[in-house]
Amino acid sequence: MSRKLRVIPFLFLPLASCADESTEPNFEYMPDMVSSAAVESFSASAVTADGRAMMAPPPGTVPRGYEPVHYGPGPEEAARAGRELANPIPDVDAARRRGEIAFRRWCSPCHGPEGLGDGLVARKFPRPPSLVADHARGLPDGQIFHVMTFGQGVMPSYAQQVLAEDRWKIVRHLRQMQAAAVALLPRPAAPAATPAPAPVAPAALNDKGAAR
Ligand code: HEC
Repeated sequence: MSRKLRVIPFLFLPLASCADESTEPNFEYMPDMVSSAAVESFSASAVTADGRAMMAPPPGTVPRGYEPVHYGPGPEEAARAGRELANPIPDVDAARRRGEIAFRRWCSPCHGPEGLGDGLVARKFPRPPSLVADHARGLPDGQIFHVMTFGQGVMPSYAQQVLAEDRWKIVRHLRQMQAAAVALLPRPAAPAATPAPAPVAPAALNDKGAAR
């Protein structure tokens, strides 16, 4: 940059900063949209089509980062979600750890930290089923996601409190908890080894038969 060019910005500086700050605002050059008129979200507006300041999003608009759930409440829809939905979250350590945090925060008050149905709330509230029992182990991921999203029976929906992504991570954590619980189950005793009966030659049989 030539020496002359370097001087030019300094010529403009006084414009920006020389007003007496204590009595009057600075001189604004090219304010653009800095001082646009503020409108309250729920106030009336003379310029929008429906007369409301806050405009409704066009039909079919999906907010950024929001994934619509194409299911309704109820057991049939839960079963359908179980058949159709796959867990979009990979089964990695970080996802399971995040799922554990969310589970402890939102689910363990009723279901208990290990999912046994012995949370603090369960002392006064209908005791929830164990999440590590056969029935819950057999529920597909999508159905568990649906239960969290819409609730089931007396269990309320957790869609407002837990992000969809975290609900899927809870499923990952739940599977890990179930696997740990199964590993603790007493194994059925292995059947005692019985020696295989010695093959009997047909001739010997005949002999026996003949002896009788
Ligand atoms: C307010 C207590 C409460 C909270 C909190 C709660 N649940 Fe439940 N949950 C229940 C009850 C009670 C049931 C049994 C509902 C029924 O079928 O009547 C249940 C059922 C379930 C079932 C079905 C189990 C089965 O074998 O059918 C799953 C899965 C489940 N809950 C997961 C969760 C998860 C995951 C969370 C955390 C996001 C959670 N719950 C939070 C009370 C709760």
